[in-house]
Amino acid sequence: MKKIIVAMTGASGQIYGVRLLELLRDIADVQTHLIVSDWAKKTLELESDKSIDYALSLADCVYDINNQAATLSSGSFKRDGMVVVPCSIKTLSAIANSYTENLIVRAADVTLKERKRLILAVRESPLHPGHLRLMTLAGEAGAVIAPPVPAFYNHPETLMDIIDHTVCRYLDLLELDAPNDKRWRGLSVGDATVAAGGRPQVCQE
Ligand SMILES: Cc1cc2nc3c(=O)[nH]c(=O)nc-3n(C[C@H](O)[C@H](O)[C@H](O)COP(=O)(O)O)c2cc1C
Repeated sequence: MKKIIVAMTGASGQIYGVRLLELLRDIADVQTHLIVSDWAKKTLELESDKSIDYALSLADCVYDINNQAATLSSGSFKRDGMVVVPCSIKTLSAIANSYTENLIVRAADVTLKERKRLILAVRESPLHPGHLRLMTLAGEAGAVIAPPVPAFYNHPETLMDIIDHTVCRYLDLLELDAPNDKRWRGLSVGDATVAAGGRPQVCQE
């Protein structure tokens, strides 16, 4: 059983967190542990048609952000990874500086010290140098900085196509298999690469 911590903070893009929880629910042998900040709850209400109750219902376990005594606060809680999605600049700043004022930041800090995967879906634009420095700091501590930036090479037709593409990349980073993921398959059938002997070879997926 893989234990994945999901944290939602007050940046725009709450739908990414909700969608990640939906996909994780449908993957066998995954247990989700959810923490939601107060501003995530407010932002979800402001920008989405999903309710906070729906988001909470998707997780196996839900924690109060102010409960620093929760199991997630300790390295003895064996986690396989954590995703902060969306990640506000405020929470990025706290994580980058180990300012563990709430359970989200504490759980993230513990995830880093235990050398487990921490993905930060930082959402802000444009970025000033202070934001960039915070991302560098967090990256140096081991976090993966993965802003929810859309790709278009897979020809998305709907908003959900765009959201799913990004969320499936987060699953990749957690080494979990994404259901129905549309991957880049090269330029065309017969796309060739050069094999070790210098002879072109067709790669089948
Ligand atoms: C509708 C709305 C959208 C917001 N979007 C962002 C955003 O994209 N990035 C960001 O860093 N903060 C954003 N904020 C501000 C954060 O919610 C605010 O800084 C909050 O204190 C973050 O706290 P938290 O990290 O504990 O959730 C937004 C706030 C609202 C109400």
